[in-house]
Amino acid sequence: MAALYAVAMAEGTWHAADIDRVIVTEEQIRDKVDELAKQVAAGVGQVDSLLLVGVLKGAVMFMADFARALGRYGPPVELEFMAVSSYGQGTSTSGVVRILKDLDRDITDRHVIVVEDIVDSGLTLSWLLKYLESRDAAAVDVVALLRKPAAIKVDVPVKYVGFDIPSEFVVGYGLDYAERYRDLPFVGVLKPSVYGRG
Ligand code: IMP
Repeated sequence: MAALYAVAMAEGTWHAADIDRVIVTEEQIRDKVDELAKQVAAGVGQVDSLLLVGVLKGAVMFMADFARALGRYGPPVELEFMAVSSYGQGTSTSGVVRILKDLDRDITDRHVIVVEDIVDSGLTLSWLLKYLESRDAAAVDVVALLRKPAAIKVDVPVKYVGFDIPSEFVVGYGLDYAERYRDLPFVGVLKPSVYGRG
């Protein structure tokens, strides 16, 4: 594993000192995104097009890579983004969601794939699925790169899952702590000393 960390975290980068350990490497993400794209392409079968819905900002990296991978195996895709804010405290969510940016178009009768960075409690996703169904989509499936099975509070159908990870707060590949670390190409756990730096 030590060798793996060395590859994942180049020595001397600004973040090397902040990351305790890497949970999913850049290479593992690349392979998994490709595999998920194949699964989704096979799962949706013959449809004219797919509407990918990503939630800003966490899903941005996964959305970009997943859409390109799907381009190799699946039907044409269109991209939509939503921004929501959950009335949570610190690193946990409450499930009460406010829309900051809504969909730009009608999704009636569209086959929607929600592209999620991480399913933690599942509360945000559960709300989002109800919202998309209320907008009369023909079908709504979910692809999530990461899931914390031990943290799930509501039963939410995630058809395609990349990695099940421990219930720890992770950063990288779109996920942030205080808006930082989204640009890391891997997913890792922060050192406890980073919290509270403000
Ligand atoms: P949930 O509603 O608890 O499933 O989590 C919703 C959102 O919280 C996710 O889409 C992420 O944006 C954020 N989140 C949950 N767990 C983590 C984490 O470990 N690191 C960074 N963001 C997280």
